[in-house]
Amino acid sequence: GVTRHYKFEIKLKNVTRLCHTKSVVAVNGKFPGPRVVAREGDRLVVKVVNLVPYNITIHWHGIRQLRSGWADGPAYITQCPIQTGQTYVYNFTIVGQRGTLFWHAHFSWLRASVYGPLIILPRRNESYPFVKPYKEVPILFGEWWNANTEAVISQALQTGAGPNVSDAYTLNGLPGPLYNCTQKNETFRLKVKPGKTYLLRLINAALNDELFFRIANHTFTVVEADAIYVKPFETDLLVIAPGQTTNILLKTKDHFPNASFYMLARPYFTGQGTFDNTTIAGILEYQNPSNPSTNNTNSTPITPTLPAINATSAVTNFTTKIRSLNSAKFPAKVPQTVQKNFFFTIGLGSNPCPKNQTCQGPNNRTKFAASINNISFALPSTALLQSYFFRKSNGVYATDFPKFPLHPFNYTGTPPNNTNVINGTTKVEVLPFNTSVEIVLQGTSILGAESHPLHLHGYNFYVVGQGFGNFDPKKDPANYNLVDPPERNTIGVPTGSWVAIRFLADNPGVWLMHCHFDVHLSWGLRMSWIVQDGSLPNQKLPPPPSDLPKC
Ligand code: C2O
Repeated sequence: GVTRHYKFEIKLKNVTRLCHTKSVVAVNGKFPGPRVVAREGDRLVVKVVNLVPYNITIHWHGIRQLRSGWADGPAYITQCPIQTGQTYVYNFTIVGQRGTLFWHAHFSWLRASVYGPLIILPRRNESYPFVKPYKEVPILFGEWWNANTEAVISQALQTGAGPNVSDAYTLNGLPGPLYNCTQKNETFRLKVKPGKTYLLRLINAALNDELFFRIANHTFTVVEADAIYVKPFETDLLVIAPGQTTNILLKTKDHFPNASFYMLARPYFTGQGTFDNTTIAGILEYQNPSNPSTNNTNSTPITPTLPAINATSAVTNFTTKIRSLNSAKFPAKVPQTVQKNFFFTIGLGSNPCPKNQTCQGPNNRTKFAASINNISFALPSTALLQSYFFRKSNGVYATDFPKFPLHPFNYTGTPPNNTNVINGTTKVEVLPFNTSVEIVLQGTSILGAESHPLHLHGYNFYVVGQGFGNFDPKKDPANYNLVDPPERNTIGVPTGSWVAIRFLADNPGVWLMHCHFDVHLSWGLRMSWIVQDGSLPNQKLPPPPSDLPKC
């Protein structure tokens, strides 16, 4: 591989959407941010210069960071934030990965405007295990607030109420014509030629919403999810959670059609309360081969129908089609036995309201919170990885994260009252090097059943099982797929369901696991793993780079 250098200058930029102009935090003056491209085996060296009045970090979402955890990026987990005026160089090698990932800010809600594609091409002499596309197009879904998003989340955390929902979803930064007050240049147009195959690299960078995606009168073939090749399958509906990426092949119609086509995306949502149920529209526009200057710009595009907002069956119907490619070249390496089992409840809850404060959260003046096994994870004031590496854990974190819920109950039924007691503490779980781990993620219905896209840093995991209701440890493991389950870095746990994942803890460091809905993340739906060094020299985490920021 080669070394590729990038420079990210974090600066404020004025952006206008929906007739509102606001100043957003942006990289190199771009919103969404610049494309980072590398090949498998390359080293990426990204110099990040913070020139905004906010702390920031950058996370390389889905990159395994094998023994390079100092470059992972979550604030207060692997590093202290890069403060205003400071610089940090992210330096890591891409080992054994190729496909579509993305990078994003990992501090507070700055991901709202600080995100961009991270495209890893196969090694120079290697090709895709599918037809060579005529063209490749990144498609990033995002979310737009007319207000300053840092103000939105800090106000929500102060009052304990839910944050204001976004004003629009975006496709490559653009909301499209179905919103009020969008200008002509606020619509993404995918210009295509007839009879060609396009590789669309879909990335859900939205803060708080899983999305359905459909293109009118077109089907497509799913070939990759979370930068892992999958057994190709054809579909006309895609579901993508925040943190997930999916590559699809779109074969355009053989003949120039007399129409253009909407590409629509809208949320899947089952919770209570308000959310943004608006629809993003982009336009698939054919270029007339016999007269390239005439295309279908002016006709009204054909509109696809999307599933109902709460169509959980459409979600599972899609996700259960995903299987690892599991070819000779790309085998699925599913742990067949498990050394450590965990059962994690994931869901919402509420915290007691501090004395002498007014709280607008649920259940009688309490604050919204979210937890794993009743623990709402509090960020420490220094980085966990530094504390661990330099053996200064005292007062920073405890190692007694519960392997099982503190208060077992009927998770998908009516919850008892004691489940609302959630402590804001910093607890981690320690794994010896090369432990094979199974985690059952059990969704709960406390304060309303919602889906939770769980993301694990530093690893991919195999999704060996999934089902509705309460997980049954006696019956459900018998139905696990230990042959070709999907390998992912983010898995949606739909409302009222459980998901079982397995991974081999072969990457030493401190690794965050969290719900990729930023609102749930802010409320504490996160925890950390410490994976210890192995005994061989190439199983140890090297010391940090000298420019690692200090808290
Ligand atoms: Cu994409 Cu911890 O995040």
